[in-house]
Amino acid sequence: MKRSVIIDCDPGVDDCIALMAALGSPDELDLMAVCVVAGNVSVETCFRNARSVLALAGREDVPVHAGCARPLKVEPEFADHIHGESGLGKAVLPDSLAPPSGLHAVDYLCETLGAAAPGSITMVITGPMTNFATALQCDPAIAEAVDELVIMGGADIEGGNITPHAEFNIYADPDAAQIVLGCGRPITLIGLDATLQFRCTPARMARMQASKHRAPAAATAMIGHVNDVYGKIYGAEGAAMHDPCTIGYLLAPDLFTARRTSVSVDCSAGERRGHTAIGGVRTGSTDAINWIRGLHAEPLFDLLLGRMERL
Ligand code: BDR
Ligand code: CA
Repeated sequence: MKRSVIIDCDPGVDDCIALMAALGSPDELDLMAVCVVAGNVSVETCFRNARSVLALAGREDVPVHAGCARPLKVEPEFADHIHGESGLGKAVLPDSLAPPSGLHAVDYLCETLGAAAPGSITMVITGPMTNFATALQCDPAIAEAVDELVIMGGADIEGGNITPHAEFNIYADPDAAQIVLGCGRPITLIGLDATLQFRCTPARMARMQASKHRAPAAATAMIGHVNDVYGKIYGAEGAAMHDPCTIGYLLAPDLFTARRTSVSVDCSAGERRGHTAIGGVRTGSTDAINWIRGLHAEPLFDLLLGRMERL
């Protein structure tokens, strides 16, 4: 059955690839809107980038709503050292000519989810969770409209990427993550333990480069930059494609392995800020989280590249 989906993101190279894969999957995913939040880069830059991806895809019928410019409590933390100043690596995307939405993402979420039937909308979150957490604070009842949240965030055995203890999306707004992960709806959480298994290796880069289609061409320019940075910072061959895993999961959950567990977030200001304890402290509804442990990288790459080539 076709799923109605809202993507809440901070594009960002891998967010853009997730968007392109979703836009290339119209038979399975009805993309209702894209919400953006400050994360990898400022919310203004994320807004421009999301609109540019839609322009590239010829899908400017999908609205983009700009959301929160800063986290709930902590100071903003950006990741432009990974994604580049523009958030797009070396890619230059077309400017959007569509009239910009003036509706704040939090108002959009409250209005849309508030009016939707129970369990009718899937929320995909690939950035800090500030927008959805703020919407839940305004109106907790909106959670009822969500059938599942599929979120990129957290880490267990991999530790972290922004600090040794924390993954970026959770670190950037731990208070928001705690609210969203405790919202009581079914949650699939895809953290670094899985996404670091999905790298843009030289062989996969070569396949994207060889593609004649516009989305993989843009993705190659974006990921090329992140690959260089990864090589220098982590000594790793091939950047991880974190956020596209969410779309891959919606399209082909059998490519992922999971276990149900509790997840608790460290909201302290200490060195473990943003740490996710997987299967640790058992508190309330977080016990129900579907924690992704692994994935089948080669068929997942085939799937997502194929979807991007449809644009
Ligand atoms: C997450 O952090 C961001 O830099 C990426 O876009 C991804 O959502 C990975 O930790
Ligand atoms: Ca992201």
